Amino acid sequence: MTQSTTGKRKKILTGDRPTGKLHLGHYVGTLKNRVKLQDEFEVFLIVADYHMLTTSSGKEYIEKVAQNCRELVLDYLSVGIDPNKTTIYLQSLVPEVAEIYLLFSMLVTVPRLQRVPTLKEVMQAQHIENPSAGLLTYPVLQAADILIVRADLVPVGKDQESHIEVCREIARRFNQQYIEVFPEPDALIGDVATLIGTDGKAKMSKSLNNTVFLSDDEEEVRKKVMGMYTDPKRLRATDPGTVEGNPVFIYHDAFNPNTEEIDDLKERYRKGTVGDVKVKKKLIVAINNFLDPIRAKRREYESKPGLIEDIIHEGTEAVTKEGRETIGLMREAMGMTYFKK
Ligand code: TRP
Repeated sequence: MTQSTTGKRKKILTGDRPTGKLHLGHYVGTLKNRVKLQDEFEVFLIVADYHMLTTSSGKEYIEKVAQNCRELVLDYLSVGIDPNKTTIYLQSLVPEVAEIYLLFSMLVTVPRLQRVPTLKEVMQAQHIENPSAGLLTYPVLQAADILIVRADLVPVGKDQESHIEVCREIARRFNQQYIEVFPEPDALIGDVATLIGTDGKAKMSKSLNNTVFLSDDEEEVRKKVMGMYTDPKRLRATDPGTVEGNPVFIYHDAFNPNTEEIDDLKERYRKGTVGDVKVKKKLIVAINNFLDPIRAKRREYESKPGLIEDIIHEGTEAVTKEGRETIGLMREAMGMTYFKK
């Protein structure tokens, strides 16, 4: 069901922290889905720079936000996210997010937030001994992002599921304690394909340095594919090779539309009648063919001065309007109407 009970299109909200360029893993895992959803739903994308601050608050990170934000929006546009259908907003330009976050922080306990599994994971990965209040309340801020537009659905990866649960609890608590203002948004977990890294590690990730970026040029793609991990047991092109779990074939399946060619390569690889280099060369062509229209769109958008700024400002304005409305409803529901002019 894509219509809410009021007959309006259902709202979807999701987004990213502006920490760098998006890669093929993002494409397979979420971007492709977002492009599809924008035809059926009212889609909002947040560039969550406050969330970045929860782990990276130094000036050296903040300095990069403007550029990262531009790259992120260019990545969105280049894969087909249409700014006429999808509203893109920058979190820190909408002060209403912070106001809702503050009110929400009263509706969830500290032990509840301490039990959110991603907190422990982030603390471990980044060697944080004591979390800041900001890091602890990461899911509360995320709830504000989502509920500022009163979104119904939140497409995210499995790792974010526990945050959406906190968001649902906050919505429920608010509605019970005051008046029903918020939907309880559902996480849309999809069968999120996690793309293996070029090094054969479970996940393509910038921090593992095993990515192919959407903005990589032909030469970068060539170098990365030629350096890809394949079947480590195969020493010579005449040895029978393993196709299953082999990143080169996983990428062929994901990005090469020529299934006949893939089937033929797999058969010959298993028999030991085709070399890794040949398989990789075909993959380079396939990935470059896949990226070519994305690159062309990127160039087109890049060449329009002020376009990214306009998109962000327009989106931010639209969400600010929603935010004013939501806060009005919240204050009304809470009885915080004193001294109102
Ligand atoms: N926490 C998300 C991530 O790290 C990014 C994010 C911020 C987000 N606010 C959101 C995702 C709201 C969905 C909805 O990937």
